[in-house]
Amino acid sequence: MEEINKNNLPKHIAITMDGNGRWAKSKGKLRIFGHNNGVKAVRDTVEAAAEIGIEFLTLYAFSTENWNRPSKEVNALMTLLVSAINKETKTLMDNNIKLSTIGDTDILPSKAKKELAEAIDKTKGNTRMTLVLALSYSGRWDILNAVNEITNKGVGNEKITEEQFQQYLSTKSVPDPELLIRTSGEYRISNFLLWQIAYSELYFTDTLWPDFRRANLEKAILDYQSRERRFGKTTEQIQN
Ligand code: FPP
Repeated sequence: MEEINKNNLPKHIAITMDGNGRWAKSKGKLRIFGHNNGVKAVRDTVEAAAEIGIEFLTLYAFSTENWNRPSKEVNALMTLLVSAINKETKTLMDNNIKLSTIGDTDILPSKAKKELAEAIDKTKGNTRMTLVLALSYSGRWDILNAVNEITNKGVGNEKITEEQFQQYLSTKSVPDPELLIRTSGEYRISNFLLWQIAYSELYFTDTLWPDFRRANLEKAILDYQSRERRFGKTTEQIQN
């Protein structure tokens, strides 16, 4: 297999973990069986990303729109989140990984909030990689939240710059992702990091999330490394 170039790694990879339901259905099982197996893919991907040298990994774990799923599935996902955080905090500590969240986490069930707060506090001194869980998150929520904060603070008399605006987004301490991965063969953004992905390279794979492993992540990074990122400039400008 081709080698990953350590001098051209994306600093930040964001992943839309899609296909848990279809994975379970293909095995004649309930959707939650897919989510349970999705946790294994999360563990493998997080460990691999840290080992490769990725500095920030953002996982889209629960969207604003996911609250509209049947309450049974929402409850099962929240229970799974609590147990996964509880079990995996040790893995995060062993791998020197800091946990953080983006999204409207105030509206999560109190048990989930408590478990997250504990894990965030416990891992706050870790330095190898930051794992960002997007929970009750949507890109439009993020942008609107920023606008409301700016308006409430009365910053609005002068024109604000992109740099100032992004200080009000939930990702203010995270660089924009250079690479966005979506699993399960869907070609959509689905309200993920809308502002932040302006220049991200998009990578789509048919692999369903519960089957996603280190090798799939490596393949996505190799694909990223084969691309020419121009940021609106010409090839000649980039090469000179
Ligand atoms: C999308 O698949 C997946 C989700 C909505 C939930 C993702 C959650 C996990 C992987 C487990 C918990 C996460 C952490 C971080 C501990 P889908 O249900 O939309 O699948 P489908 O499109 O095939 O129906």
